Amino acid sequence: MNYIGIDLGTSAVKLLLMQGDGEILKIVSREYPISFPQPGWSQQNPEDWYRETMAGLQELLADSDKSQVAGISFGGQMHGLVLLDDKDEVIRPAILWNDGRTAEESAYLNELVGKEKLSKHTANISFAGFTAPKVLWIKKHEPENFARISKIMLPKDYLAYRLSGVHCSDVSDASGTLFFDVENRCWSQEMCSICGIQQEWLPQVFESYETVGTLKPELAKELGISEKTVIAAGAGDNAAAAVGTGTVGDGACNISLGTSGTVFISTDKFGVDANNALHSFDHADGSYHLMGCMLSAASCNKWWMDEIIGTKEYDKEQQEIKALGRNHVYFLPYLMGERSPHNDPDARGTFIGLTMDTARADMTQAVLEGVAFALRDSLEVARTLGIEVTHTKICGGGAKSPLWKKILANVLGIRVDVPENEEGPSMGGAMLAAVSCGEYQSVEEAAQAIVKIKEVIEPEPELTALYEERYQQFRKIYPACRQLFQQLK
Ligand code: XUL
Repeated sequence: MNYIGIDLGTSAVKLLLMQGDGEILKIVSREYPISFPQPGWSQQNPEDWYRETMAGLQELLADSDKSQVAGISFGGQMHGLVLLDDKDEVIRPAILWNDGRTAEESAYLNELVGKEKLSKHTANISFAGFTAPKVLWIKKHEPENFARISKIMLPKDYLAYRLSGVHCSDVSDASGTLFFDVENRCWSQEMCSICGIQQEWLPQVFESYETVGTLKPELAKELGISEKTVIAAGAGDNAAAAVGTGTVGDGACNISLGTSGTVFISTDKFGVDANNALHSFDHADGSYHLMGCMLSAASCNKWWMDEIIGTKEYDKEQQEIKALGRNHVYFLPYLMGERSPHNDPDARGTFIGLTMDTARADMTQAVLEGVAFALRDSLEVARTLGIEVTHTKICGGGAKSPLWKKILANVLGIRVDVPENEEGPSMGGAMLAAVSCGEYQSVEEAAQAIVKIKEVIEPEPELTALYEERYQQFRKIYPACRQLFQQLK
């Protein structure tokens, strides 16, 4: 049978059709707009997600044997706030994961309610992009919208609702709301009380590989597929990407170089780091994971190429970079503020160290390196927990660049294993659907059968040493700028 994985991303929805044995039959991608109504804010229209997903499904299935489609599941941008009224109509545009408007609400939760309490109830502290501070922001700034709330949904769950009619979520995505008791895999009544919401507003939670329902008959007809098509809960995009790259089992690592950048470490045991600098979430395979998330990763390079240099020829620009490990320019990649490990919505992007002989290629290199250094910041926190990461998988748009992968292997000082397909979340979504339909007994079994490594990049001792020196310099820049960023607001 065949399975569909839908990755509801920030810039586009990516749909993937997979055969039961893991062979990819087709991939389709459809973009939608994102709006930045004020600096640091970001929103999308849920109707755009649904429209482009339906058009994408038509395109995906156009020349395939439709009778073979058995299941659909998801990976989705996390933390976004979708509010529905009592008629299940969307109340206002969704506020996204990289929206920093909730600095005050987040500070209220961390400082007045207290990090200890939050960590006890949810295993996490508040970050501006998480869902709970967004709900508090709505309560304060849009009381008329708050009064209409009947359901609080996450982006991919809204899509699952439109396809199945079931209000659902999954443990991995629910973990990023700050309404969820990660250790016990259920909503936290304490957090609902702290935030003044009713627990009935939150959808029913499933394990990522569980079936939530079937495709609505009218949609099945429209798409020409069976009414019995299973809709499985799916996962937040990082957990789905981890499934898609085979990052399951204790101590496995995956790096995602998408709009955001994440270091994802799966673990059998529930745990949190001393400062809650890393997120402690449920994994889609039934276990747990730790994760560092930077808000702008491949999007820094996209911004630099598209908006500043004005080119689409990323490869050509990267070919001009000659001296890896030697660059007098540094770049702080905090174009949307930063989440892990600084938790600072006021942080901003910065080039530092420019001279008269700085060339465009040095700045391009600084952008790629700055993202790698920022990912290393999260890896360093994991190392303080005694977690030894010796190698990582990689996925996301940025992983298409051989140069960036080499920089990462050497900045992190670990081996990078490149899976045959770099699709991540959409592949993971399709695999979760396959598990839900019984094609595999577990997520681990699906990963073992399906994921293959096509390339291994080893760190080179000389280059690693050069990057070690540069990383130690990079670490000094943010603390030196932190106060200034606050004054620049
Ligand atoms: C994870 C996070 C991002 C989004 C991107 O915590 O905020 O990775 O999920 O889609």
